[in-house]
Amino acid sequence: MEVLIPADRIQRRIDELGRQIQHDYAAQPITIVGVLTGSLIFLADLVRRLDLPLRIALIQASSYRGATTTPGALRIQADLVPDLRGRHVLLLDDILDTGQTLSHLIRHLETLEPISLRIAVLLRKLGRQSIPLEPHYCGFEIPDRFVVGYGLDYNDEYRHLPHIAVLPTPS
Ligand code: XMP
Repeated sequence: MEVLIPADRIQRRIDELGRQIQHDYAAQPITIVGVLTGSLIFLADLVRRLDLPLRIALIQASSYRGATTTPGALRIQADLVPDLRGRHVLLLDDILDTGQTLSHLIRHLETLEPISLRIAVLLRKLGRQSIPLEPHYCGFEIPDRFVVGYGLDYNDEYRHLPHIAVLPTPS
């Protein structure tokens, strides 16, 4: 598979994001809410760069099956989200594509009354967004290709790759 973003570049960018997040929250306690399953590797690498009072929570939102770009029904499972009232919350996802998933999650998390809610994404696909939404932290902007690796999957495979690769389109 074509490597779009090599592993060392991802790690250097996460260093930068970590420094920026650490600076912006200025020692305030935060809860990082990772979106399952795609954000797991990003979450694990990012939190180890943060010297902040920090809690980790997980939320599940699934809208896609396989490499299709047609969103199915979005399901949110929030059983693993603790009380967020009075917390600064950073919602972390692997990729911002149309924006449907994050906008649903934002609406859901806002009902839990955090002090603040910010968004961090590792990737942002250009030319696909249909819901206006500006992430506060973004790792990389990428072209409109289906990518895997570093948490992102095709049929639950390839998540363990240390780099981001482009999934070949079937001929
Ligand atoms: P939306 O359109 O709601 O999509 O912003 C976000 C979710 O769609 C999945 N997605 C991808 N997963 N490679 C993947 O492995 C991709 O290129 C891709 N594009 C979208 C992903 O689950 C993301 O959270």
